[in-house]
Parts: sequence; C-alpha cells; structure tokens
Amino acid sequence: MNARQQPADGALEAVLGHARRWLTVYPERAVPATGSADDAAERLGRQLADHGAPTSEVVDRLVAAVEPGLMASGSGRFYGWVMGGTLPAALAADWLVSVWDQNAGMRDSTPGVVAAEEIAAAWILDVLSLPSDSGVGFVTGATMANFTCLAAARDAVLAERGWDVAQRGLVGSPGVRVLVGEESHGSVELALRYLGLGVPDRIGADEQGRMLPSELESALATAPDMPTVVCLQAGNIHSGAFDPFESLVEMAHRAGAWVHVDGAFGLWAAATPTLAHLTAGLGRADSWATDAHKTLNTPYDCGIAVVSDAARMRASMGIHASYLLTASTVDPYELVPELSRRARGVPVWAALASLGRDGVAELVERLVAAAQAIAQGLGELAGVTVLNDVVYSQVTCACASDAHTRAVFAAILEEGVIMPSLSAWRERVVIRFSVSSWRTGPDDVVATVDAVARALSAVSSRGGEESASSPA
Ligand SMILES: Cc1ncc(COP(=O)(O)O)c(C=O)c1O
Repeated sequence: MNARQQPADGALEAVLGHARRWLTVYPERAVPATGSADDAAERLGRQLADHGAPTSEVVDRLVAAVEPGLMASGSGRFYGWVMGGTLPAALAADWLVSVWDQNAGMRDSTPGVVAAEEIAAAWILDVLSLPSDSGVGFVTGATMANFTCLAAARDAVLAERGWDVAQRGLVGSPGVRVLVGEESHGSVELALRYLGLGVPDRIGADEQGRMLPSELESALATAPDMPTVVCLQAGNIHSGAFDPFESLVEMAHRAGAWVHVDGAFGLWAAATPTLAHLTAGLGRADSWATDAHKTLNTPYDCGIAVVSDAARMRASMGIHASYLLTASTVDPYELVPELSRRARGVPVWAALASLGRDGVAELVERLVAAAQAIAQGLGELAGVTVLNDVVYSQVTCACASDAHTRAVFAAILEEGVIMPSLSAWRERVVIRFSVSSWRTGPDDVVATVDAVARALSAVSSRGGEESASSPA
C-alpha cells in the first residue's frame, strides 16, 4: 500500500484499545516477560514483505508478537534495575509528543514545545533547589546527561589552563584528571570514555559506598596543579547512599576542581525537606545529571543535564565554538548532543504539572517509605540479611551463601509476582529492590515480602541452593 493512502484513524483507535487493555492487564500479570525474543521475532516476521500491510493490521501484529516479551515494568511490584513506571499525565503527554512530531531542537520553528520544555526545566531547578540560571538540556537518559555535563566540565577545567578543546581537541592538552567514587555508576566511566578522558582515578568509599572525604583530600593533594573534575553520586545503586556533599564539594572547589553529581535517581531526594540531610551541599556543585524516566516516572527516554554555567554548557554542546556568543536566546539544540530530537521535556512538564510541588515530594517520600517497609519485612525473614542502611529507594539483601541467593532469586522470577534484580555488591551476590514506581503501595510491600518468603520455602523444600537450575 502506498504510504500516502494509509488511513491513520483506524490504527489510532486500535492502539487505544490495545493500550487500554495493556494498562488494565499488566498490573495483574507476571512481572517478568514470559515470551522470548525469538518467539517475538518469529511472529513479527523475519522477512520484509514485498508489499506493505494496512496500518491497523501492522499494529495488531506488533501487539500480538511483542506483548508476551514485555515485562510489566509499570507494576507496583517491579523493582528491577532502577527504572520507574509512567505517570498517567506523562504518558498522555508522550503520546501527544509523537502525534505532534515536532523537532524540539529549534526555538523559532517549534515554539510551543520549546516553551513547555523551558517551563519544565525551570520547575526542575526549582523543585531540586539547583541554581535558577543553570543551563538545562533534555537528553535520552542519565548516561547522556553525565556525558553532557562532563563535556562542559572537561572544557571548563582546560579553558582555565588556556586550552580551548573546541579549537584544539585533546591531543597535546594539559590533560584532565577525573576522580570518581569507588562505587560510581558505570555510565560515568562510559561518558568519560566518549569524552576521550580514559579511565578515572577511584576514590575510596565507606561500607555504604559513600566517598570518603579523607581519601579525596589526599588525592587532590597529589597533583594540585592538574585540571581536575570530581564526580560525586546522589544515590548509590545498591545502598541508595549519598556522598557527603557538604565537605566534598567544598574541598574540591578549594582545590580548583569542577564538581559533577550523578543523581540519576537520587537527585530527587532534594524535592523533599524530609531528606534534606542527604542532599545538603549538593546545590553548590557545578553540574548535575538526572533522569526523569526513573524517579519522576515519565516514559523513556528522558534524562536531564544541568550545568550551573549555562554559557559553558552552550559552548561545549552548541555548534558555535566560541565561549562568548552573540545570539540573545539559546536554542535547545545548543545544550545537548543532538540537533534533531523529540520533545522529551514535554512529558516532564506534564508529570510536574500533574504532581505539583507537594506531589513530587510525596512521590519521593512514598518510594522511600515503601523501600524501608520492604527492608523491614525482609529483615524479619529467617535466612535473609538486608545489607544496606535504607536511606532512600534501594534495598539490597542476600541469603547465607551466593548460591542460595541465586536460587532464591531464580524462584522469585519463576513465580513472577515480583521482579527485583540480581547483582553483586561488596563481593557478594545480592538481590536488589529498587522502589521506583509511583504505583508501589502498602499492598505491594506485603505481596513483595510474601513472595520472597515463598521463594525461600520453595528453595528449602527442593533441598537448598543445589536445586537452582541456573544462575538467573
Ligand atoms: C546512578 C546512575 N547513574 C546513571 C545511570 C544511567 O542512566 P540511564 O540508564 O538513564 O542512562 C543509572 C541507571 O540506572 C544510575 O542508576
């Protein structure tokens, strides 16, 4: 069929029906995916047909093929990785973003979505108590937010030594030393690799993964003249712990370093005064990376890069190479790596508009309360040890041996009522619960602890860890 002849309306109605059904069904179905990629590929059809199919048929085929292979990541009992669900207002706005199909990179041509993104950006700075004149870029996720912020950091510390990276590249430059915590997220290292900065130096951390000020102090003292970037963390992926920003930021600034904070999910602690002790001093850093698709519960793909010196961010990301620019307004493409992109900040506007300031605080507090309740319930089960101080949304636990932990995790997935992650932390195999969905409530907490209890009994009734068929 000729693309110009394809009616869209029947397909959109079909999509609405499929969407309504999925939203009703997924909270009740098994949380892990039940179908495999091979099954899905078989149903999708591996060969490209010579002739196209009507749009609604394409939609029906897609749904039938793909749905068994979807995990119910919006469920209140999904705790895998650090993902989060989707707030209804953010979902609705995301649909409109696709329907409108605007290129959000350019202010003059798409002023409607640019305005929505700029308001969203201002609201984010407000709820997270970050400097109100910071540059904000909407990127695909925290990996690219780290990249964007660290590009500005790299260029700034080299510019202070008279080296213009945009003009001269990195070859022959004074070099940049990057200091990261022992337990920084892998995406920081990835971003540094993209930026040509190589492997960073690791700074020792305490038992919760928080950077030790004494260790940073001695590292900074070893090469005081070196252009330096210090990467801190708001929200350790296993413990949820926050680096002690107050002392670290002050120390790094005294040494002339740029301070970046990876707060992919943890930056949102700054939205509630009840967690102010975790984020004290964080606002004095120079750049911050976070996600909207985690704690704020917007759909993928939505990360947010914030740089306190907006002109520096623009100089690093914009097409203009010069630091001093003449145009009076900034186009959104000048603050992010891409030129063309979807208006991914619009669902952020919708999420924040639907929650309001108190709703954001309540969301974060509810995630933390659920994590603490899960930790308490797990701690009361014989054979499970909670390994972290549950200060935020993460709960990490283990059984008596690594093999036993793997077996219990396999039994949890086999039943499918909940879905945590299997991981390794401080040389132990662990099961990690990341409470990131706006849907998780007290009933989910009870169901979660019960599911772990059933998995423990299933493993012991099968004769212990030896029964585990494979490490999940
Ligand atoms: C602390 C931290 N930083 C960065 C990332 C990367 O985020 P994204 O997957 O959105 O790129 C994650 C992902 O879980 C994270 O937890």
